[in-house]
Amino acid sequence: MSQTATVRWGILGTARIAARVAAAIHAAEGAELVLVGSRDAERAAAWAAEHDVPRSCGSYAEVLDDPDIDAVYIPLPPSMHREWTLRAAELGRHVLCEKPLAVSSSEAEEMAVGCREHGVQLMDGVMWLHHPRATDMRRILDSDSLGELRRVTSAFTFSWDPFPQDDLRLHRELGGGALLDLGWYCVGATLWAFEEMPVRVWGTARWRNDVDLNFSGQMWFEGQRAASFDCGFDTVIRKWMEVAGTRGTLACSDFTRPQNADRPAFRINAADGTYRKEISLPPVQEVCMIEAFCKQIRTEELNEHWPRRAVQTQRVCEALDQSARLGEPVELG
Ligand SMILES: NC(=O)c1ccc[n+]([C@@H]2O[C@H](COP(=O)([O-])OP(=O)(O)OC[C@H]3O[C@@H](n4cnc5c(N)ncnc54)[C@H](OP(=O)(O)O)[C@@H]3O)[C@@H](O)[C@H]2O)c1
Repeated sequence: MSQTATVRWGILGTARIAARVAAAIHAAEGAELVLVGSRDAERAAAWAAEHDVPRSCGSYAEVLDDPDIDAVYIPLPPSMHREWTLRAAELGRHVLCEKPLAVSSSEAEEMAVGCREHGVQLMDGVMWLHHPRATDMRRILDSDSLGELRRVTSAFTFSWDPFPQDDLRLHRELGGGALLDLGWYCVGATLWAFEEMPVRVWGTARWRNDVDLNFSGQMWFEGQRAASFDCGFDTVIRKWMEVAGTRGTLACSDFTRPQNADRPAFRINAADGTYRKEISLPPVQEVCMIEAFCKQIRTEELNEHWPRRAVQTQRVCEALDQSARLGEPVELG
């Protein structure tokens, strides 16, 4: 693939989130949305008409088989991510798979290995990391202006009102639960900030039919560092994180998605009570994600960091889930 080649995309399933990503593929430079597949051909055709997709088909396999597809976006229930990622990889399609990458760390690892062996890129669908604000926040963390980093605290919640009759998040067999759906972001932000795996975790949850409706977690790291978070479907929208050091803190009130898309902001608080507000550039984060993915595959080199980060996030989530079920801390080897 040349440096200027257009990356041709297919989408598996007519998921709600796919509407936003389809718009991003249309808006992204060097990307073209070619085909959408659904379990139901009529649904695929209607969705294609609504979202300006030239072609549609009545199965996911047809999308993977199509010779005009370079990359696929997989927004299926998490329990289906492994199968469709590996099938896509075997056919040489690059894979942008929604979060959580899988439902277990062994599945996530298998997906990362499968994609690497077939020479295709794998990335999970966490968008905020591709926004310029993440680069600006990274610069602060790396600058030593907060002193030694000690603690990450984060929350991601929303309140279902009304509580849905049905949703993949309510089914354990589909990979549901607040930890994998929302905690994925909190755990990911923590690993992003510390750039290291925790040595021990502890979790507690409120369950409904074996699915965690909310989850609180604690993670311990080497060097006197710790992190905590809560997530859930039962509390008003919150999507903040704070990274605290020995001299100051970085606080972002909407890290998963800027509330004010035109002025994505975060704050640096100093020990003397003064603070500075930083405003980043305002591109749409979905478009940033698609453009980053297309740029990477045009290099014809694999970005190993993206799948590694997702597999590590999955490992930590799995240990947190295990801890909540056992009622005791779990060590990460
Ligand atoms: N990155 C983000 O910001 C973000 C935001 C929201 C969601 N997500 C992730 O995206 C994925 C999809 O979430 P969503 O809320 O958009 O899902 P959704 O609207 O429920 O859509 C899931 C799609 O999967 C297909 N599907 C196949 N088998 C299914 C089954 N047994 N039950 C339900 N759907 C099935 C369906 O497509 P067809 O019927 O057309 O085949 C359905 O439209 C999840 O992994 C979620 O965590 C990410």
